[in-house]
Amino acid sequence: MPVAQTIPANRLPDLLRRMPKAELHIHIEGSLEPELIFALAARNGVQIPYASVEELRKAYAFSNLQSFLDIYYAGASVLLKEQDFFDMAWAYLERAAADNVVRAEIFFDPQTHTARGVPMETVIKGLHRACRKAEGGLGVDASLILCFLRHLSEEEAFATLEAALPFRSGFIGVGLDSSEVGHPPEKFARVFARCRELGLHLVAHAGEEGPPAYVWTALDLLKVERIDHGVQSTKDPALMARLARDRIPLTVCPLSNLKLCVFPKLADHNLGELLDAGLVATVNSDDPAYFGGYMNDNFVQTFAATGLTSAHAYQLARNSFEGSFADKAKKQQYIDLLDATFAAFE
Ligand code: ADE
Ligand code: ZN
Repeated sequence: MPVAQTIPANRLPDLLRRMPKAELHIHIEGSLEPELIFALAARNGVQIPYASVEELRKAYAFSNLQSFLDIYYAGASVLLKEQDFFDMAWAYLERAAADNVVRAEIFFDPQTHTARGVPMETVIKGLHRACRKAEGGLGVDASLILCFLRHLSEEEAFATLEAALPFRSGFIGVGLDSSEVGHPPEKFARVFARCRELGLHLVAHAGEEGPPAYVWTALDLLKVERIDHGVQSTKDPALMARLARDRIPLTVCPLSNLKLCVFPKLADHNLGELLDAGLVATVNSDDPAYFGGYMNDNFVQTFAATGLTSAHAYQLARNSFEGSFADKAKKQQYIDLLDATFAAFE
């Protein structure tokens, strides 16, 4: 590792902001800022039950995952046209570029939109157009991961996959999100097996609020390549050993965990424990418009609260590239850029 361990704490925020990084856990519907919700509601003639941006922001006080999901799905109801999906993704990608995110693997929830009569084509085309434009226009390599909503049935997940397959070139993988407890990974074993046959990358939310058992079944039954969140894994030493041995990336989202009361204080977050146990942990924003911070806010606030060091910063950025779905040559390019940034900083 080219990094001196001694970059003083007062210079860490600058280093964290400047270092190149990949974001591997961002729900694009969770990047919809209240201002854009109001603008799209006006553009599309959709009624929303809040009088102002301020009133809507005030409603963002959550006690657990479900209390957030209820308002998150309501916010997405303003998205109707391909241009709406483009505008939402473009706004996120501009923010990502400003945070020196050079690669983004972006979740989207098609069932939230198709259930309201929005065609799958509208969703994927709008998001994909923004991703393509970001490559040249912003220097961000962006791709899409289609998430199945786990509170819905396996049959509905299969129907969603069928509807998306005509646009197969528009996404690189599938994931599993929404209400975790009571909806274990095994509910989706067959649809994930089919996605695997199709050559899609596989990820799943597990161990956000749910038990370590859900992380085990995501690995062993769904055969996922990454675990989204996974912070409950520290409760199970055998699981920690498995995650370390197989270098399974965890896409950790500290401000999300704070806002959804997974940890009472940011200082209590177990990111340092995950890293120090040798896990491929990464930092991500999850739903930045709802949780009060994009990538660099997550890094800067978490480091300030937990006392992580510049060596951890390097490891987190490196893990984000290792854990990404970029090819080997591209990963090396990202790591070379990371090394050059640290060398120039010293
Ligand atoms: N969908 C959007 N954000 C989510 C989260 N943190 N957990 C599960 N599903 C989600
Ligand atoms: Zn998530």
